[in-house]
Amino acid sequence: MPESNYRYAGLHRTKEPGLSVAEAVERLRRLAYVERRLVRLLASRIVTVAERDLKALLARLQYEDALHADLLRRRVLEMRTNRSKLESAPDAGWEALFDEAEHLPGSYPFLAVVTLVLKPELRNAFESYLVTTNHLADYGSVRAMQHILTDEAEHDRLLHAALDDLTPSKEGRDTAGVWEQKLRGYLAAAGGLDGTGRRGTPPAGEGSSGPYRIPHTLTRDESLSRVWDYVVPPLEAVPEHLDYMMGLRLSEINVAEGLAIVLFETEGMPWEFYLDISRHLWDEMRHSLFGEAAIEQTYGHRTAIPMRDYEAIYALEAPPLEQYAVLGLEVEGKNMRYPPGKRQEWEFARDMAGHPLMTTLQDFDWADEVLHVNIARRQLDEWFEGGLKAISEFSRHGKDHRSEVKGRQAPTAIVHPAEPQS
Ligand SMILES: [Fe+2]
Ligand SMILES: [Fe+2]
Repeated sequence: MPESNYRYAGLHRTKEPGLSVAEAVERLRRLAYVERRLVRLLASRIVTVAERDLKALLARLQYEDALHADLLRRRVLEMRTNRSKLESAPDAGWEALFDEAEHLPGSYPFLAVVTLVLKPELRNAFESYLVTTNHLADYGSVRAMQHILTDEAEHDRLLHAALDDLTPSKEGRDTAGVWEQKLRGYLAAAGGLDGTGRRGTPPAGEGSSGPYRIPHTLTRDESLSRVWDYVVPPLEAVPEHLDYMMGLRLSEINVAEGLAIVLFETEGMPWEFYLDISRHLWDEMRHSLFGEAAIEQTYGHRTAIPMRDYEAIYALEAPPLEQYAVLGLEVEGKNMRYPPGKRQEWEFARDMAGHPLMTTLQDFDWADEVLHVNIARRQLDEWFEGGLKAISEFSRHGKDHRSEVKGRQAPTAIVHPAEPQS
């Protein structure tokens, strides 16, 4: 009689000895480390690549990679393993590989190496795990990886689309080729991303010097027009106030970039800090996309309303702890007050502007912001010496710094765009 195809609850490789717990833990912690380093690498580029659409994609990918790292870490902790095993690099080879990758120059070489080298290697490592382990014994890892691989297939599709969209110079292509080869050398030396291959000798003498630092310069393409700051129209000037709100959302990319700096430059924090900041970062980029979608839907093109710059300049100037305290306690914290606050924005979109899409977006924006205030309070309580009790003067001082940056140039009144002809 043929075996029924739902026996063993539909799981595979049930009679293969597969991996031991020790072997599984070793591979999983390597993969968790790789995902964690990808979060850092992708986040850093949100600041340095010019292309807006690419910045937005990287914000999503870095968060989904953070979720992958978290799944893998949780799985490792289920398998007789102490948390301390997860805190350090599993091997100097991986550390060298990602330290070097952080120096990848430009949009094209960076995207080419991530799309054509790092991500495919990562998918191979997951697939090789799945054809090795016993799915019944190691069910938790298998389930996590199957979910991760679904995301990774989507990442692959999106990254290829983004790469195809760039038009590199010959020099950009050549640089990408050199970097692909260089990082393949590091990969070979580490025995592949899961460490199961034969180890080679580390590439000698070609590493970039010193740790990578994100250049603190505003980097933008020409996809949107920009102003320093907006003149705030009164609530009663409904069409103008709606434009202003859409512009505010659009400009939240500044906050996402600031959080990318917080994530990258704050070292030695517990994993949960990075997971929280990664999520916060992606949420703020989503809010910027809220603005983009609302503007495009209302006026037919996303350039109808300019974004404002001053918040980005503040985020590039202020130390990470200061900008995070200002964001979480002063800006987002104050948004919880009603009126005005987030609730009023939502009511304005619904009742005064009668804009169904902005109503939905503001509704979810409000929900996100409540979450962010809670995240910020939790993280700052641990991060700031003396905790939340001691932080108020520090964050007020940061807010003054932000106001000083804001005041450096006069605000511009948004010109109400013409509605598209239907
Ligand atoms: Fe936001
Ligand atoms: Fe927020």
